[in-house]
Amino acid sequence: MSDIKKIKDEYLNKLKNDLKIENLNQIKTELFGKNGQISNLFKKIGTLSQDERKKFASALNIVKEELQEKINFKIKEIEDKEINSKLESEKVDVTLPEREISQGKIHPVSQVIDEISSIFSEIGFSVEEGPDVENEHYNFTALNTPDNHPARDMHDTFYLDQNKKLLLRTHTSPVQVRTMLKGKPPFKIIAPGRTYRSDSDQTHSPMFHQVEGLHIDKDINMGHLKGCLNFFIKSFFEIDKIKMRFRPSHFPFTEPSAEVDIGYEIKNGKIVIGEGNKWLEILGCGMVHPNVLKNVNVNPNKYQGYAFGIGIDRLGMLKYGINDLRAFFETDYRWLNHFGFDPLDVPSNYRGLSR
Ligand code: DAH
Repeated sequence: MSDIKKIKDEYLNKLKNDLKIENLNQIKTELFGKNGQISNLFKKIGTLSQDERKKFASALNIVKEELQEKINFKIKEIEDKEINSKLESEKVDVTLPEREISQGKIHPVSQVIDEISSIFSEIGFSVEEGPDVENEHYNFTALNTPDNHPARDMHDTFYLDQNKKLLLRTHTSPVQVRTMLKGKPPFKIIAPGRTYRSDSDQTHSPMFHQVEGLHIDKDINMGHLKGCLNFFIKSFFEIDKIKMRFRPSHFPFTEPSAEVDIGYEIKNGKIVIGEGNKWLEILGCGMVHPNVLKNVNVNPNKYQGYAFGIGIDRLGMLKYGINDLRAFFETDYRWLNHFGFDPLDVPSNYRGLSR
């Protein structure tokens, strides 16, 4: 019994001091830990006679509770103190000037993709997507570009395996194939996205962007192609009149094929689209080759249509006066701040996305 009293007096005394949380934890271990003084007394109970046992256990329990309560009270006291002093020192100073918020900008390429999608959606095109890592079949063979076709070299392809089966898509045209394979005609889609070729200079980057267009139905002809491109170019450059010419060309996946140039001139050092007698190539197009339609199980005797591929970065450079294509992808914050768009910076021809 005297042991209990000794411990009680000793520790109640100790707890009168100014203690820190660490000291209190230390005391807890000394008393109630595995080899703590109170714990050891509990172990002793079994050795006592029946009579003593009851008295001893009840006295021990009372002291145990008293000490525990005291310790917990002390801990709470310290914690409250800490919170109060924190509240004291962290008062909100309403007179402080506000912090500067730096808002992000929309990259010109994203902006142009949104504008293009918006314009084509107005004339009934929906947006499709395909993977950047493409297989050889969708990128070439299904597009009437067989194994030894010279167009394969022209594309400076990044192959991803020894057997040249996997590659980074060299154009967005494989999305035509994917779209037609998974659905039934008619098709009227555009497919914007990243494309890759091993090429780099002021106007070429190994990663660049294209938008593919495809319109297949029962009686689609080159007149529709011309009307569609005419509408698109006028809307995109926000002008009423453009000069546009179709130049005969060759693509394995179209017949006939053409490249489209638009007229421009340089006025006061700035490029003006739609006037003058200089020509600028902006896209490739044509009537989808019957072989391509056969490859995707579309009957070329029933269905026909046009396709086109436009360089997105090129359009952005022209519209927003950006000279070096590589700057698009250098992620220079100052450049982005200058050429980027605020989220609410909507060009006059932008009528919202209907995706
Ligand atoms: N895929 C072509 C390229 O990357 C562009 C192109 C031309 C796409 C004609 C077409 C097309 O759909 O009909 O150079």
